[in-house]
Amino acid sequence: EGTAPQLSAEEMRAIDEERSHYESDAAAGLEALRIVQRERGWISDDSLRAVSAYLGIAEAELEGLATYYQLLFRQPVGPEVIQLCKSSSCWILGCDRLQTTLEKALGIHPGETSADGIFTLLENPCLGACDRAPVLLMNEELHSHLTEEKLQALLAEKR
Ligand code: FES
Repeated sequence: EGTAPQLSAEEMRAIDEERSHYESDAAAGLEALRIVQRERGWISDDSLRAVSAYLGIAEAELEGLATYYQLLFRQPVGPEVIQLCKSSSCWILGCDRLQTTLEKALGIHPGETSADGIFTLLENPCLGACDRAPVLLMNEELHSHLTEEKLQALLAEKR
């Protein structure tokens, strides 16, 4: 029998502080996951379990939040997370070419992290900026009306 996954004292303190500002469990749960991700880089199964136990929110509900919220990661990621939109508007305007550019430049496919550990490439359903397609999210920043030149410049800036 292993020990139950735990949150650190620091994480619990941060979660308690946020918790008081939220009326709904879901909102508190989302905030708690963000706090844990800030500390740990991503949300492992153990991290999810620890938050579930601490807040008394079902794991399935937290899993749902983590899936819905694009900036929560359920796999290890690098410090630069690129989320490329693959939905219809972005598709029509050439996101597949952008994907090829990214794959070549970084040497990875979606779901992977570059050998230098810096970039993680993820595909994303519609990022809600279809009028500015094609778009990608680099960490929390949206980059729109992308061309291959813009993309190369963006990558160069981060290297
Ligand atoms: Fe790409 Fe909506 S289709 S943002």
